[in-house]
Parts: sequence; C-alpha cells; structure tokens
Amino acid sequence: MRIHLLIVMIVMSCCTTSCKAGQINTSDSSLKERLGNKFLIGVALNTAQASGRDTCAIGLIKKHFNSIVAENCMKSEVIHPEENRYDFTRADQFVKFGEDNGMAIIGHCLIWHSQLAPWFCIDSKGRNVSPEILKQRMKDHIHTIVNRYKGRIKGWDVVNEAILEDGSYRKTKFYEILGEEYIPLAFQYAHEADPEAELYYNDYGMQVSGRRNGVVKLINSLKKRGIQVDAIGMQAHIGLDYPDLEEFEKSIQAFASTGAKVMITEWDMSALPTINKGANISDTVAYQKLLNPYPKALPDSISRKWNKRMGDFFHLFIKHADVITRVTVWGLSDGDSWKNDWPVKGRRDYPLFFDREYRPKPFIRELLSQKDQ
Ligand code: GLA
Repeated sequence: MRIHLLIVMIVMSCCTTSCKAGQINTSDSSLKERLGNKFLIGVALNTAQASGRDTCAIGLIKKHFNSIVAENCMKSEVIHPEENRYDFTRADQFVKFGEDNGMAIIGHCLIWHSQLAPWFCIDSKGRNVSPEILKQRMKDHIHTIVNRYKGRIKGWDVVNEAILEDGSYRKTKFYEILGEEYIPLAFQYAHEADPEAELYYNDYGMQVSGRRNGVVKLINSLKKRGIQVDAIGMQAHIGLDYPDLEEFEKSIQAFASTGAKVMITEWDMSALPTINKGANISDTVAYQKLLNPYPKALPDSISRKWNKRMGDFFHLFIKHADVITRVTVWGLSDGDSWKNDWPVKGRRDYPLFFDREYRPKPFIRELLSQKDQ
C-alpha cells in the first residue's frame, strides 16, 4: 500500500514539474491566432488527451489548435475489431473533445491496409473473401462509422496510402480482391453516408515524382467520374535530409492542379539520422549510438538545423495558403511521438512543435513573434 502511494506521489510530482516547465502563458499569441486566416492548424490526439487524462497537454491543445485528428482510435482494428462489433468508446471521446472546444474534427481513416481489423478481408478459414462480400463489408464499415458522426466530423481520410512510389497501386488485400475499384467505392460509400462531409485521399512520401504522378492520375480519374474528393493529404513525416523542399513544393502544385485542396496531414520531422536498413555494424555499442545518438538531449547544432528546416517548411505552407487548407502536426510533444519507436523501438526523437516539457520549440516561438506577412 505504502509503495503504491509512493509511486502515485512520484508520478504526480513528475507531471506537476512537466506542466510547470511548460506553463502556458495566456498572454502569448497562439498558433491558431497567428495562422487562422491562412489554414486550419491541427494536431493528432491520442487517447490520454481526448479522454481528458493528460491535463498537461490539454491546455496547450486548446490554446494553439483549431483542428484535431484521431491518431489511432478510428482505425479499423480499434473501432471495428470484429465483424459484428464496433467499439466507439474512444472515438466518441475524441469527437466530444473537438465539439466541446469548437474544433474542426477530422476522421482518420476509413480504408487502410495497415492497422486493419484482422477479419476485414478474409473468411473464417483465412481465405480472401469474394469481391461482393468485401464490398458489403466496406459499405457497412464506412456507412456505420461516418453515419454515427454525421454532421459532426468536418472531413474524412477515406483512403490511406494506396499508391506506391512508382505510381502503381499498392497490392493490398483490398486491391487483390477488388482491383482499383475499391478506391472509388470507398469514396462513394463515404459520400452516401454524409453528403456534407469533406473527403480526402491521404498518403506519405508525396514528394516522390512517381507517387506524385500516380496520385494526380488517380484524383483526376475520380473527379472525371463525378466522385467527390475535396483534398489530397500529404502526410509529411519528414527528416533532416529528406525530402527536398523543391520536390515537396512541386507536389503541392501538382495536387492543386487537380482542383482538390491540399492538406498537410501528419507533419513531424525526425531529428535523428536516417537508418540505412542494410547497415552492417557488428559492434553493438556503435550500433546503439547510431540508432539512438541523443538519448539525453538534442545537441544545439542539430537543434538549430531542425528548427531552421521546420521554419522553411512552415513558410512553404504559408506561401501556398491559397491551396493548403489545413496543416496538422502528428502529435503534440516529443514524448508523444510514434517516432520514438519507429523504425526501431526505444529511440529518443525530437520531431514535434513542443518538447517533452511542453515548451514550444524555437521555430514556433519565432513564428508566434513574427508580424503577419
Ligand atoms: C501513417 C498513418 C498514421 C500513423 C502514422 C505513424 O502515416 O496514416 O495513422 O499510423 O503512419 O504513426
């Protein structure tokens, strides 16, 4: 019992310290005030934040952001874990959080090959279901979820990550069973369920010219068939050495040429070196150092480089604010980021707007102090 109490006290004191360190100065300007006339500024919410448990984070989220997206709670493995069972607990909390705070709520994501509920594309013997059954499952899934939040969710990532770097279709189960048609069908089902909701196609590595061309071709073909696609989402999980800013800009322009809007949907920038998967390092200590080079803090030189590059990207987004309607960062503070565990577990990364103590990074402070341009 005593030990429990001690643990609770230690945990509480840690939290209090973090909150204090990142204390929100209400007189400071906020990102949403600063950027509100350009585009929505959003953040991906985890369940501790949406449920109200992470009180440290919530103040900052309310202060700076006017849009939220579900980091995980609307993915099929969470929201629809079995064919005849939906679990809306966390998604309901997420949507309520957005409504209580007057935010533009984004649903993510309806059809994606990853974090896919295991039952979705197969029968009880593990064989692919027929095209008719898969269509029916997609329709039930999309209609049920979109309809539940009809009129409350501003827009949906309908299909996520369907196009490969060479512009061809990713060979997912959806593709294997239904071919290219699964994409228009997903958009059609979403539109049926909520004709007022915006519908988005979302993907990563969008600066790669093959994928850029493939996505443009896809969106043009959907539009030609009268299928509603309101925006193309560029995830923007970037690094210190990729992508090239100019290639990224070319994609913004190419996507806008389809008539769809552009959204930066999952922005973060790893501060760690890109891991070459083929690296052959026999010395474990050297390997650990390579994987996790800054286990305590980011060196100033890297921090400066990181902040400069984030600022460059932000200015690129502002430059194209006529076509970019939302910029969303994939998590609030460095401690929240998936990047700490990817592509290898247990790294300490520094990819987001706020540090582990909820202090804004220098490029955010600079942005907040600038006069309108
Ligand atoms: C992709 C998905 C997101 C998220 C990130 C990594 O970009 O769209 O939902 O899973 O990967 O966390």
